[in-house]
Amino acid sequence: MRVAVTGASGRVGRAVVDVLVAAGHEVQRLDRAPGEEITQIDLTDAEATADLLRGIAPQALVHLAAIAVPFSAPERDIFTVNTGMAFTAIEAAVAAGVTRILVASSPTVLGYGTPDWTPERLPLDESAPTAPANAYALSKVCVEETVAAFARSAPSVRLASFRPCYVITPEEWDGAPTQQGHTVLDRLRDPALAAVSLFNYVDARDVGVFIDAWLAADAAPSGARYFVGAADALAVDPLDELLPRFHPGTRDAAPALRGTSSAFDNTAATRDTGWVPRRSWRTELHPDALAALAASTSAPDGRTSR
Ligand SMILES: NC(=O)c1ccc[n+]([C@@H]2O[C@H](COP(=O)([O-])OP(=O)(O)OC[C@H]3O[C@@H](n4cnc5c(N)ncnc54)[C@H](O)[C@@H]3O)[C@@H](O)[C@H]2O)c1
Repeated sequence: MRVAVTGASGRVGRAVVDVLVAAGHEVQRLDRAPGEEITQIDLTDAEATADLLRGIAPQALVHLAAIAVPFSAPERDIFTVNTGMAFTAIEAAVAAGVTRILVASSPTVLGYGTPDWTPERLPLDESAPTAPANAYALSKVCVEETVAAFARSAPSVRLASFRPCYVITPEEWDGAPTQQGHTVLDRLRDPALAAVSLFNYVDARDVGVFIDAWLAADAAPSGARYFVGAADALAVDPLDELLPRFHPGTRDAAPALRGTSSAFDNTAATRDTGWVPRRSWRTELHPDALAALAASTSAPDGRTSR
């Protein structure tokens, strides 16, 4: 399939492009930032975006481009750029005859950054209400609604949005800093770091495999939203203990969590596409890093002392 990938120079985009190319797709890499085989485009420019997609005539669009880090730009810019760019890319793709459009959202749409956040139940699935409390999360709610609106108005196109958990790239398993600046090992040693994202994470290549699976899943419903995360949590200690420590509103729901299984449920993605996450911090961290982690924990069963 000819697939246009926006945000192809980015953290997620680079890994996704590799997976899609390896799966046999012809991938057109689009980004404002330069990079290998990148076609440079500012996706806030509606006319240029429409011209480019008409020229490429892809069968599928994977829209990853965004201001991807909350509070990394003025709130107004994050909101207007992310929502405007998604609308522009989707509108241009539909006009260019694209028949499959998959758009990156974020689990932060649930609003778990606020101190009194209280989920009805855990693990979280797509029925959990959205409650954005910053421009990034709000922009992603609007992006999901944009996808749903196009799904209604363009029935010949299959669209979906997906919410990748905290993405870890191959080089980050080897010690490169993750999106928030610290390493994977830092996040495992200090639960306060991963608590911010409810200990969620996903390997970037698993994201690529999900995208490939969704592209092929012709029976998947249009307008759907999916969590895409690792099967386990980025934590050494069980989540029924950890979550209430950092998010008091989870106290009633947390006992339903089992061990270090994820607080996010991938069932919908698996049901509609057949995808399952394959990679875990337990399989991807170097054995020396796992040994260093074990050495820094005190309990004989590998739990941390915190
Ligand atoms: N990394 C994560 O943990 C994570 C988690 C949840 C959701 N997401 C979402 O996944 C997507 C990719 O995230 P990422 O971590 O790779 O971010 P990133 O910042 O590494 O990459 C985003 C890319 O978008 C490009 N871009 C921004 N504005 C543009 C414009 N006007 N025109 C063209 N390109 C533009 C940037 O140049 C960049 O290469 C984003 O939509 C992000 O919100 C990421």
